[in-house]
Amino acid sequence: MTGNPSENKVVELFAGVGGFHLGLEKSGWKIVLADQWEPGKKRQWAFECYDSHFKDSLNLNEDISSVDASRIPDHELLVGGFPCQDYSVASTLANSKGIQGKKGVLWWEIYRIATEKRPRFILLENVDRLLKSPAKQRGRDFGIILACLTSLGYSIEWRMINAADYGFPQRRRRTFIFATMDGSVQEKLYGDRKADEVLMGCGFFAAVFPCERHIGARISDVVIPDDVKSVSDSFRFPFENSGYCYEGNCHTLRVEAVYNGKSMTLGDIIQSSVPEKYYLKPDDEAKWQYMKGAKKVSRVSAAGFEYSFAEGAIAFPDPLDKPSRTMLTSEASKNRSSHVVTDPSTGRLRLLTPVECERLNGFPDEWTNTGMPESFRYFCMGNALVVGLVEFMGKRIQELK
Ligand SMILES: C[S@@+](CC[C@H](N)C(=O)[O-])C[C@H]1O[C@@H](n2cnc3c(N)ncnc32)[C@H](O)[C@@H]1O
Repeated sequence: MTGNPSENKVVELFAGVGGFHLGLEKSGWKIVLADQWEPGKKRQWAFECYDSHFKDSLNLNEDISSVDASRIPDHELLVGGFPCQDYSVASTLANSKGIQGKKGVLWWEIYRIATEKRPRFILLENVDRLLKSPAKQRGRDFGIILACLTSLGYSIEWRMINAADYGFPQRRRRTFIFATMDGSVQEKLYGDRKADEVLMGCGFFAAVFPCERHIGARISDVVIPDDVKSVSDSFRFPFENSGYCYEGNCHTLRVEAVYNGKSMTLGDIIQSSVPEKYYLKPDDEAKWQYMKGAKKVSRVSAAGFEYSFAEGAIAFPDPLDKPSRTMLTSEASKNRSSHVVTDPSTGRLRLLTPVECERLNGFPDEWTNTGMPESFRYFCMGNALVVGLVEFMGKRIQELK
């Protein structure tokens, strides 16, 4: 597509500290505009970090819902990591301007921008439970996304990827969604192909993240209704961890990763000598043992009912010879899911450092050391994605063009 002014240009929504940006620039893309705004916060730490690193893009620190599409340059690829929220449709607008999603639900901002800008490719990231949400109408929210993008002429492919399955040092599971409205790319990827060929062979994801059928799993099919409001009202479907939707015909299959390459572990990203403040105080060890241990306790609900609460044990300390557990935004708050390791050089228990958290996501060391308090450095990494996965996806799109 030489001569196309939008060629290779990327718009990054919900940019955080720039995981998409880092991965995509390594695969030859150019980010022209990014938007990052943390609701309700005076200091915008993630934005400040992003803006200090990336000087070549226009970086907006605004609620995306207040950014008019006319301010967004034409682009070839739209990307963003957005939250799993309730995407149900309140009503259909009478004036044919489309559907009315709930305010503050960020999917509708992506949909608005895609509708107005029609990028050739879209690449999105969400948590793994997106495919099954909400509990009372399983698959509704993902069905809404498929119906919206199908109505704009996109084909959609998704895959839930655990970064550790492809050699990365963290067991971070996320749903990635790739969409294209380019007819020749759609033809190349899906055309007359059989669903298992797409999902386990030459589709967008399987070509770079090889996989095989989960034992006993079968492909199931569903037609996505073209009326988004009716999807919202009554659609439900058990979407599996891989699938695609071409011209409204959807095929999904539970797959397992196939990988024989080098695998990294938590031990591989550990710093050699860290300040004393990261070590657990000997007096606190019993508290940590309790937090991490299995327990069954009696609790009282907000409505005053007593109930029994049980949770299993978490490995304590976290094993260094395996990939880490998922890092959460609460990593800094010293809770049950914070990682605790045995420092290899001292043999004492300690927390992970911010640099180790950056390494777990594949960010350069000290990436978030841009003036923010340390607790925010952990928070930003809990929000971020694994850069190497995005790099592979960015390359894959380049090859398809
Ligand atoms: C899941 S994080 C994305 C992280 C990013 N991919 C990274 O690698 O750092 C989502 C981001 O969206 C931002 N956000 C939430 N609501 C927003 C809004 N209304 N407008 C713009 N950004 C918003 C949050 O502050 C958060 O940084």
